[in-house]
Amino acid sequence: MADTGHSARPHPRKAGTFALAAVLLLCLAPPQSAQASTLFDDLGGRSGVDRIVDGVVTLYMTDPRLRADFDNINRDWLKSRLATYLCMLTDGPCTYKGRSMAASHKGLKIDQASFDAVAEDTEIVMTRDGVSNWTQNRLMARLAPLAHQIITR
Ligand code: HEM
Repeated sequence: MADTGHSARPHPRKAGTFALAAVLLLCLAPPQSAQASTLFDDLGGRSGVDRIVDGVVTLYMTDPRLRADFDNINRDWLKSRLATYLCMLTDGPCTYKGRSMAASHKGLKIDQASFDAVAEDTEIVMTRDGVSNWTQNRLMARLAPLAHQIITR
């Protein structure tokens, strides 16, 4: 039988193109194990966040710029609420059931300087805990937009 040129075997050049495309796809598709980590993971997961919260609450309560604001606040209660809030805020596996930032800070008369002091103390603690600048900046970028709910004077 004469060769019609329509045999089932792919044309060698086409086969080469397919092979190249397949290799490229394999290179571009992320392997299952390389899923992007969350900010929560990069902060060290639950133990990393707990360590940061432990440090910041202790610092807020002793910082002369802030300690009056935290007078009479139950330290363990605040740590537990803040840890769950930060876990949720950084895409960790937590459901925050506390009040909103507006509701919980309403009436506390927090100004920009106090908000900045909280942010500064948070950075001090993260640096002390060995959190990279890149990860610190990502957390600060999520905290900054909360200012308009927290600052009331
Ligand atoms: C982005 C910054 C802040 C975050 C993420 C944050 C987060 C929180 C959270 C999660 C709670 C617990 C709310 C609840 O579960 O009901 C809380 C309470 C509180 N926060 Fe903040 N806070 C921030 C800034 C500040 C600042 C700047 C101050 C004062 C200088 C402050 C003072 C307080 C006080 C006094 C409470 C306890 C309120 C109460 O007992 O009713 N917070 N905060």
